[in-house]
Amino acid sequence: MADTGRQHTDAPASPTTEDTPSEAGKPDLVPILELRSLTRVHGSGVATVNALREINLTVRAGELVAVMGPSGSGKSTLLTLAGGLDTATSGQVLVEGVDLGSLSRSALARVRRNRVGYVFQDYNLIPALTAAENVSLPRELDGASTRTARREALAALEEIGLPEVADRFPDEMSGGQQQRVAIARALVGDRRLVLADEPTGALDSETGESVLALLRSRCDAGAGGVMVTHEPRFAAWADRVVFLRDGMMVDEAAGNGPESLLSPGALR
Ligand SMILES: Nc1ncnc2c1ncn2[C@@H]1O[C@H](COP(=O)(O)OP(=O)(O)O)[C@@H](O)[C@H]1O
Ligand SMILES: [Mg+2]
Repeated sequence: MADTGRQHTDAPASPTTEDTPSEAGKPDLVPILELRSLTRVHGSGVATVNALREINLTVRAGELVAVMGPSGSGKSTLLTLAGGLDTATSGQVLVEGVDLGSLSRSALARVRRNRVGYVFQDYNLIPALTAAENVSLPRELDGASTRTARREALAALEEIGLPEVADRFPDEMSGGQQQRVAIARALVGDRRLVLADEPTGALDSETGESVLALLRSRCDAGAGGVMVTHEPRFAAWADRVVFLRDGMMVDEAAGNGPESLLSPGALR
């Protein structure tokens, strides 16, 4: 599954791209997320806020895209629209080719549950559920048996390095532990789109790196990922970095290490 998108198609390949992975946005891979002229206006009259203006972005299988920009620039709005948690004023969001705006409420809820893993800035764990129950909940809502969902949840907690918190409630965990449990919840099951709003905000740098490694490996296995971050060293894990300002996409850079952000010509 992971490599299907990487195989060469029958279309004639140009000699320069034949033997090397394509650079600019991996154009040979399946789009997981497409934002088309995406616009979100809040309020009306003098209180109007243009949270996002005409954003175009494609994230393909295997790609992790970092979103950077000052506070209020529209980063969280972009993620909530991409995850079907908010509705665009105009423009389209396509997840694996499906226009979220065309779906009924129940169909949209199903896409959010099975196709999208969302890591909220403030974790959003359910206080009355243990870590394992929080992680298994979306799988149970998908129809997995309690036993299967628990097994998957324990495996996900193991993967994030926190098997010992399985039976703890959120208020019995540190902020960093809660954040990692929220990430386990987003990665459990076969989610093809992973959206993370400052997933490393509450973490020390070592734990932050391990969280990024998880997101990276999920994308390497065929998911598409979008992550909001303020930290260039975390953005360096991404294939591309897009920059927002006042709801507009102002720049895009290949994320080949932090240095690439500083080199002349990195920003177009
Ligand atoms: N529900 C809302 N009602 C009104 N304005 C909002 C709402 N949500 C966000 N905004 C405004 O939209 C802009 C973008 O917000 P946001 O996407 O949260 O930015 P960021 O995540 O980059 O800090 C800000 O000016 C914010 O105040
Ligand atoms: Mg935000």
